[in-house]
Amino acid sequence: MEYSRRKFISFLGKATLGTVIVPQFLISCGNTSKPSSEFENTPEAVLKKLKNVVLEAIQPSAKDDLLLANGLKYDIIVKYGDKINEQDTFGDNNDFTCFIPFDEKNPKDGLLWVNHEYINQLFVSGYNYRDSDAIRTKEQVDKEMYSVGGTIVRIKEENGKWQVVENDPHNKRITAHTPIKLNWDTPIAGKTTAIGTLSNCSGGITPWNTFLTCEENYDNCFGEITYDENNKPSRIPSSYYGWEKYYDHSPEHYGWVVEINPKDGSAQKHIALGRFAHECCTLYELADKRVVAYTGDDKNNEHLYKFISSKPSSLKEGTLYVADTINGKWLALDWENQPLLKEKFKDQTEVLIRAREAAKILGATELNRPEDIEIDPITGHVLVSLTNNKSKNDFHGSILKVEETDGKYDALTFKASTYIAGGEETGFSCPDNLAFDMSGNLWFTTDISGSSMNREDKPYMSFKNNSLFVIPRYGKSAGEVIRVVSAPTDAELTGPWFSPDGKTLFLSVQHPGEQTKDIKSPTSTWPFDKDNIPKSSVVAITGDLIEKMNKLRQIENIN
Ligand code: FEO
Ligand code: CA
Ligand code: CA
Repeated sequence: MEYSRRKFISFLGKATLGTVIVPQFLISCGNTSKPSSEFENTPEAVLKKLKNVVLEAIQPSAKDDLLLANGLKYDIIVKYGDKINEQDTFGDNNDFTCFIPFDEKNPKDGLLWVNHEYINQLFVSGYNYRDSDAIRTKEQVDKEMYSVGGTIVRIKEENGKWQVVENDPHNKRITAHTPIKLNWDTPIAGKTTAIGTLSNCSGGITPWNTFLTCEENYDNCFGEITYDENNKPSRIPSSYYGWEKYYDHSPEHYGWVVEINPKDGSAQKHIALGRFAHECCTLYELADKRVVAYTGDDKNNEHLYKFISSKPSSLKEGTLYVADTINGKWLALDWENQPLLKEKFKDQTEVLIRAREAAKILGATELNRPEDIEIDPITGHVLVSLTNNKSKNDFHGSILKVEETDGKYDALTFKASTYIAGGEETGFSCPDNLAFDMSGNLWFTTDISGSSMNREDKPYMSFKNNSLFVIPRYGKSAGEVIRVVSAPTDAELTGPWFSPDGKTLFLSVQHPGEQTKDIKSPTSTWPFDKDNIPKSSVVAITGDLIEKMNKLRQIENIN
């Protein structure tokens, strides 16, 4: 794949802002694309035309539909169950998306990676946990295991419409049945290969153009190992999906960051980044090609981590740190040099497998569900979504701002503060996925849980359905929180990713109709296809407004 590393930040550095820190090279992953040459050479006449496009908020809505602000339209690229080739179909509950073009001169043809986080059993296998007589069969479990993991599909834009290139040799599924190498010198639970990846929530991209997919709520599938005060392990007897009934896979094989090679679908799990409910993994490449990887543990009172590699382009050699946000310190999860860890664990491998416990021993700060992480291309600050923490009466969440000392991503000290808080005043609640567009505007999605949304007895009533918001950085709306897309019933919008020409926003519509109890009367029927049941789908959002926002900085500089 000939997609060279472009200095995404280089043109942002020309911005006329007071304090512009220009990192040497920002491969902002999680959710930010790199601009194509077409993007950077926009004729002035086009910019002048786009200047007249109005950014107007949509109102909160409880409608079962994907509603868009004026100036936007959408097409479905692929939905649950669609054939991608002769033997494979698209998985369920799509989350993170990442698009890499084959050739940077043609931003309209490339590979799309999509995470499949979990399954809605009612629609995938027919298993209904509400039915006390329901027996889980192996066939059902196999279907469920096939429907998680991820998909690689070649997509192409022709005549303004993005479509899957069916049967393209790149099209591939990675599922809970796929063998995946463990990138570590010591076996994990006695093995050097794990079977499958699952709970793939958000992710990232590497500077060497591979995809990262993160295993979040892995304990739902094969359970978890817990330890008593004498370090004696015991396995939680049953998990939510109960796959352990038919497959004796070790819980220690899940909860990792997984790297996928787009060319052939080969995968590896990166043990050095620790094991917990990884939401995302956002990389920054230092001048000497070492990488810094930020990753959050999306659970109440869990932590924010960063890995600093000691060798160029390595996600194996280096040190994992956890954040003490009160004192602004990165604490090394390093068995060799931390007597407290030596006391509790037998080696570094055990520290990484039981990263949560190790983090707590060192005094890491409990956070309110750290989810997506992005590096602000204008200020260089690291933004972290803290979705909520009902156990601490934080119902609406916030976005945390981490300022690394001297703007150095390998610094071991930092300052943490709140960037923006959710609530009635700002008009959003429960921030989750973040994405900066190519002008540095911040887009983010919300994740109010399906069981709390639109209910009089919960504090989320006024926010209505989950949505996509944008905070512009320039012009008269700079700093405002503007709702631009509203999700169908019970759904969450996830995985925002911009195409390299700044003309398309790829977005996942995840779990519409999630609260359905009876398949004959689903709570949502979006995307309204012939089957009349809800289906998670990836959409391409296009239109003048996407283009305007991506080019906002350039537009602001013309008369
Ligand atoms: Fe899968 Fe933390 O969202
Ligand atoms: Ca998420
Ligand atoms: Ca979430």
